[in-house]
Amino acid sequence: MIIGIPLESDPRETRVAATPKSVDQLAKLGYEVLVEAKAGAKAAFPDAEFEQAGARIVGSQEVWGADIVCKINEPLDSEIAAMKKGAYLIGLIGAPRNPELLEKLAKAHIKVLAMDSVPRISRAQSLDVISSMANIGGYRAVIEAANIFGSFFTGQVTAAGKVPPAKVFVSGAGVAGLAAIGTANSLGAIVRATDIRAEVAEEVKSMGAEFVAVEAESQTSEDGYAKEATEDYAAAAARMYAEQAKEMDIIITTALIPGRPAPRLLTAEMVASMKPGSVIVDMAAGTGGNVEGSRPDEVVTTANGVKIIGYTDLPCRLPTQASQLYSQNVVNLMKLLTPEKDGALVLDIDDPVQRGMLVAMDGEVMWPPPVVAVSAAPKQEEAPVAAQPMPEKKPRDKRITYAVLAFCALAFLALFTISPSGLIGHFMVLMLSIVIGFYVIGNVSHKLHTPLMSVTNAISGIILVGCLLGLVLVDQNTALFAGTNLAILMLSVCGILLASINVFGGFTVTQRMLKMFRKG
Ligand code: NAI
Repeated sequence: MIIGIPLESDPRETRVAATPKSVDQLAKLGYEVLVEAKAGAKAAFPDAEFEQAGARIVGSQEVWGADIVCKINEPLDSEIAAMKKGAYLIGLIGAPRNPELLEKLAKAHIKVLAMDSVPRISRAQSLDVISSMANIGGYRAVIEAANIFGSFFTGQVTAAGKVPPAKVFVSGAGVAGLAAIGTANSLGAIVRATDIRAEVAEEVKSMGAEFVAVEAESQTSEDGYAKEATEDYAAAAARMYAEQAKEMDIIITTALIPGRPAPRLLTAEMVASMKPGSVIVDMAAGTGGNVEGSRPDEVVTTANGVKIIGYTDLPCRLPTQASQLYSQNVVNLMKLLTPEKDGALVLDIDDPVQRGMLVAMDGEVMWPPPVVAVSAAPKQEEAPVAAQPMPEKKPRDKRITYAVLAFCALAFLALFTISPSGLIGHFMVLMLSIVIGFYVIGNVSHKLHTPLMSVTNAISGIILVGCLLGLVLVDQNTALFAGTNLAILMLSVCGILLASINVFGGFTVTQRMLKMFRKG
């Protein structure tokens, strides 16, 4: 079958549904790929590169006449009219808000697979364009904020004085929020974040931010997604936002409750309490806005000098990366639809992923699909029927711990009293090294424990010095390989050999390990 990749008709659109790499992957699945001239120009993919990858560069009419048309945005009426009856259309359709478009597509007998209707189940993650784009959006939100923020993100000590790091607050720790946290953190800012689902605190911390909890019950639905805030929660959250707004330099809002308008998080009063020069990015500006006063696709400057960015095209502002991820999602879909890798698309509407995406077929609107059990929460294991009650785990008896500690202390005391006075000094050194070692190693990141161990191994090569000194004890007046000399010689040579392995081996392993932590 032939796949057509058109030039996007929306002048604001910068992405393209295929890249030279994805063309090559589609060809390996047995498809012939046609790319409309200049389709990838805005995303830095020239026609020549598509040609090299095996695509044919053609005009608009030929592309729209393909068996499968793969694009980004919703098609225009003229584009639908240019398609063959029974052809496939793959792209972002916006099914819930576009019933008229669905009717038109069904009427034209086009089979439509909506990339934005992929069910959010783990098996479909590789096709999930919404997540791919939200990830880019979260990254770009921080870059846009940094672009108009008047200071550094990272703190610096300069000859002229100290510069404090910027303080960034991210609201909503879903796909976009976590990407924003990671980006702001890597730019050196102090990052705080919150989410209506308290259980994401660990993820927030693992991205390097501090989790700011709202002093109210977490609002998580049974499927693990956020649910609408109760009055109690909203009041406690408002207090938290009012406090944070006064302190933060940048606020990025990404709060979303599936199927609901964007929740309002920041009021005009909170925005007015922010410092002049602060920046807010309202990622939900296109769906009602998390911030009072934000406007879609505009940068609003408030009376107190706060800038509110409401761009709704953040992924389009990174066209190359967005096209790469989108096209990879498309390739993953085509792999699913081409089980024989023979260039023939086989649609299986019993598969919940394919059915979920199928919004029109054979003259009928197929949206909404039957409900698929999606869950953002980890799956709970089902309790076995008539399971025996688990015996309660007894807390460890502290008396045993104390007894062991007392025994160790007594053993050391006894050792001290019977040891010759010269040895006591060595004991003290040993004890002090244990205490110092405990605190030093305790403060080293876990990830670095293995290289640390190998480097200390190398340091233990001090034994080498001892062995070399041993050679000094060799009696010059006796034969080298006789009597005591032979014993000293053998021990020293063995010691030198083993210690050298420790020294050279230890440093080599450390070098290798540290290489893994080096960027680039
Ligand atoms: P997501 O569903 O992965 O994450 C949303 C997060 O918001 C969830 O963790 C949820 O628990 C949290 N949340 C819901 N209500 C909240 C509240 N009242 N307070 C705090 N947290 C709350 O969604 P995703 O994919 O990260 O998208 C986030 C937003 O970004 C959406 O509104 C989406 O439309 C928008 N977006 C905007 C783009 C742009 O160009 N402006 C590009 C991509 C996404």
